Amino acid sequence: MAQPHTRRTDCRICGSTRLSSVIDLGLQPPANAFLDASSPPVPEQRHPLELFICLSCNHAQLLDVVPKEDLFSHYLYFSTTSRTIPAHFAGLAKEVQERHCAPGDLVVEIGSNDGVLLSSFQGTGVRVLGVEPATNVATAARARGVETMNAFFDETAAREIVDRYGHAKVILANNVVGHIDDLQTFIRLVAGTLSPLGTFIFEVPYLVDLLEKTEFDTIYHEHVSYFALRPVEKMLSIGGLRITDVRHFDVHGGTIRVYAKPAAEAKHVSPAVAEMIQNEVRVGLNTMAPYEAFGRRVQELRRELLAMLAFARAKNLRVAGYGAPAKGNTLLNFCGIGPDILEYIQDSTPVKQGLLTPGMRIPVVEPATFREKPPDIALLLAWNFEREILAKEQKFREAGGKFLVPIPFPRYV
Ligand code: TYD
Repeated sequence: MAQPHTRRTDCRICGSTRLSSVIDLGLQPPANAFLDASSPPVPEQRHPLELFICLSCNHAQLLDVVPKEDLFSHYLYFSTTSRTIPAHFAGLAKEVQERHCAPGDLVVEIGSNDGVLLSSFQGTGVRVLGVEPATNVATAARARGVETMNAFFDETAAREIVDRYGHAKVILANNVVGHIDDLQTFIRLVAGTLSPLGTFIFEVPYLVDLLEKTEFDTIYHEHVSYFALRPVEKMLSIGGLRITDVRHFDVHGGTIRVYAKPAAEAKHVSPAVAEMIQNEVRVGLNTMAPYEAFGRRVQELRRELLAMLAFARAKNLRVAGYGAPAKGNTLLNFCGIGPDILEYIQDSTPVKQGLLTPGMRIPVVEPATFREKPPDIALLLAWNFEREILAKEQKFREAGGKFLVPIPFPRYV
């Protein structure tokens, strides 16, 4: 049963109440709240979706918080639905094994999803434990042999980990720190679960990419934080942790992987850390300019995309969506793109097929429909997998089908 949202009035990192609006995307249903096709035509529960920036520590965040039980107890995102993400995590697993732990050590992953990352440790002698609140994905992880605690990483879970398994040599958290409302408690619990010589390694989408590439659709209720490295530094200090290294990757539209250690052990700090922070100051993240420019580009993008789709429909071209990611729902709801424009959306995730998208109620179908009834134009909502999908859909393109990629600006490829 959907519950009302709550609204916080202070920054979740530094506690300041000096917060300024960056962009208001309106009232939206949760982006992963896909509907049963038989859902009554009553309006769904909607919550404000507005991005704010803290004027003290420059942390970008939502203030309206949808209860986590509504967002994460049954999850429709599976890490294994692309080739790109498992390959990316295989690289991380290899690096962790080679540089950050030894046989017998404990590696804990918070938000371990279907266990794809931890499964790479099988046969290495490293002990692994996943912590995953969504029962359906936790079950998938156990089915692949990954020991998984079906829980949110809270005080009880943290205590149980230390009591039953000991302190962790490595704590991993990918695309999950941005989901946490109470970041201060979270960081203290991470620090308390980590061994004194341990490393906390986490990945988050990078704010500079979001702003520069107009990735406004990655803003949705699950993501309450949008990280730059400077606020990350401040956040980690709450738990006595210090950044030792950072790397940038292209996945998910631009991601940073941050490495942190208890301050006493953070003796060697890579120059990449200061370089990234200097660049953030250079692009003006501590001023309003990049946020205002972003807001203007989002409005332009909406106008342009709607004009292109209207032109296509006026020529009687058939348009369908490709990929039904959560971010696609921010884009569709914000732009007002409904079933009058998109005939259907194809998605390879079995649990999404047969459902309707939240808000716009566009039917999600299996890839076979796309092959059997290909549209003239495929709106690439899963634009973060552009390379993988374009390579896979050669036949559609050879037959004259066109992909319309909406981000960073609408264009046909
Ligand atoms: P993704 O962008 O990873 O997630 P988010 O929900 O966080 O925005 O989701 C990509 C979606 O695209 C996912 O539902 C699976 C789908 N997809 C396809 O349908 N076909 C494909 O070839 C790929 C790579 C993804």
